[in-house]
Order: sequence, then C-alpha cells, then structure tokens
Amino acid sequence: MIEVKIMFKGLWNNSEKIRVPSSINMNSIPKHIAIIMDGNGRWAAKRMLPRNMGHRAGVEALRDVIKTASNIGVKYLTLYAFSTENWKRPDSEVSMLMRLLIEYLRKEIDELHHNNVRIQAIGNIAGLPGEVITEVDRATTKTRFNNGLCVNIALNYGGRSEILNVIRKVGEKIKSNELQIDEIDETLVESLLYTANTPDPELLIRTSGEIRLSNFLLWQCAYSEFWFTDVYWPDFKGEHLLEAISDYQNRQRRFGGV
Ligand code: IPE
Ligand code: IPE
Ligand code: MG
Repeated sequence: MIEVKIMFKGLWNNSEKIRVPSSINMNSIPKHIAIIMDGNGRWAAKRMLPRNMGHRAGVEALRDVIKTASNIGVKYLTLYAFSTENWKRPDSEVSMLMRLLIEYLRKEIDELHHNNVRIQAIGNIAGLPGEVITEVDRATTKTRFNNGLCVNIALNYGGRSEILNVIRKVGEKIKSNELQIDEIDETLVESLLYTANTPDPELLIRTSGEIRLSNFLLWQCAYSEFWFTDVYWPDFKGEHLLEAISDYQNRQRRFGGV
C-alpha cells in the first residue's frame, strides 16, 4: 500500500488534493525537469487512429503533468514540443502540430495564468508561423510576472542550433572588441543560451521507450539524470512524473567527484 501525503501548495490544490507517495522527499524535488514528450504517433497507431489524434491526446496529457509539477513545487518544466528536425514531417502533420499549439495556448492560458504559471518559449521562435508567434507572445507577455512554475515550451528547438547561435554571438562580441577570447567561459555561454537564467535540469524524462536525446538541451544536460519510460506521452500522468522523481531521488549524483 502506498502512503500518501496531502499537499496544499499551489492554487490548483485548493480544489483537488494531490497524493504524493511517501517515497518522495518533498525537500529535494528537482528544480528543473525536462521532458521529451514522445510517442503520440504510436499511441494513435495502437488504436488504429490517425497520428493527429495522438497529438491531440498528447496536448491533453499536458494538463495533469503541469498541475502536478506546479503543486509539488518544481520551478522549471521544459517541454520538447517541436524540434528543428520535426519540419521533415509531412506538411499536414506540421500544420496540425502548429494548430494544436495555438489552440492549446488560447484555451489554457487563463487557467495557467490564474495558477501563477509562467510560460516561456525556447528555440528559434522567429522561424515559426506568424500565428504561432502571436500566440506565444501573448502567453509569455500575459504570464511574465508570475512566479510559480515556469513552463518552457521548446519550439523549433535544436540543441546544436542553440549552441551555434551562442558561437555566432560570441564571434560578434569578439569582432566588436566587446569581448576577449580568454574571457569566454561557461558562465558566458550559459548567459547566451535560450535557457539563460535557468538552472540545468536535474532530471530529464523521455517517454515512449526511445533512449536518445534527439538534439534536446545538449549543453544543459551535461550532468542531468535520465529517466526513460515505455509509456507513450498521451498516457503520461502526474503519477509517472512522481515515479520519475522518486527514482531520481535514489540516484547518487557525483558530478565527476567520488
Ligand atoms: C511526439 O510524438 C510529438 C512530436 C515529436 C511533435 P511523435 O509524433 O514523435 O510520436 P511517435 O514517436 O511517432 O510515436
Ligand atoms: C523528439 O521526438 C522531438 C519532440 C518530442 C518534440 P522525435 O520523435 O522527433 O525524435 P526521433 O526522431 O524519434 O529521434
Ligand atoms: Mg517520436
């Protein structure tokens, strides 16, 4: 039998109680969790549904995960929603993903805002369709002063392209004599990443049984703990997030030491 603690922290908890297994230490909840939300297509295929239905179900799955993360006091949740490589998919699927994103932001922003969630986007946002940019801007502007959970949506995001951007910026600074070569250090690079001012993720989760990074947070994951599950993203619930956190809390992180 699982013992539970009842938490009353975020606003969401005023109406619904959250059950946290006693195996979880509330004093060492990771500050930053990154998730590669994978398996929408296979979730749909298993049900003989079109892939787009999987994406729709994937959007639904966000609610429970965001709510749980917010309620247990996670500070940053970075969600891989669209990679720089996902443009290779058929136009119809790409359009559907963009449409779902717009719909999601329009539909959920008020509730997220009400719950003190801050929305941010990371990736090459300028390279997205205009309507998506507008909706992302609206959501980030509206929630910019919230100090609860920060949800970073990775859109048109690629770890290599992020690092390339940093290299270009560093090059420009050197060219304009704003920077000397021996001043280039990790702190400088971090300040130029999309995730500037965000601590590295302690925990990275990937769903659907794939065991790879697919160009996600290449710099930031240098010392992250990885947790993989066979669960397809649309089936991923707050309880899986708690399972991952519990597992993370039993890891020994050494950072190269003894
Ligand atoms: C993840 O699900 C969503 C995105 C990459 C946008 P997939 O669409 O990759 O689902 P699978 O991997 O084909 O099952
Ligand atoms: C990674 O999933 C990207 C997102 C979840 C947005 P993919 O399904 O695109 O990754 P690969 O192609 O299996 O590596
Ligand atoms: Mg996939």
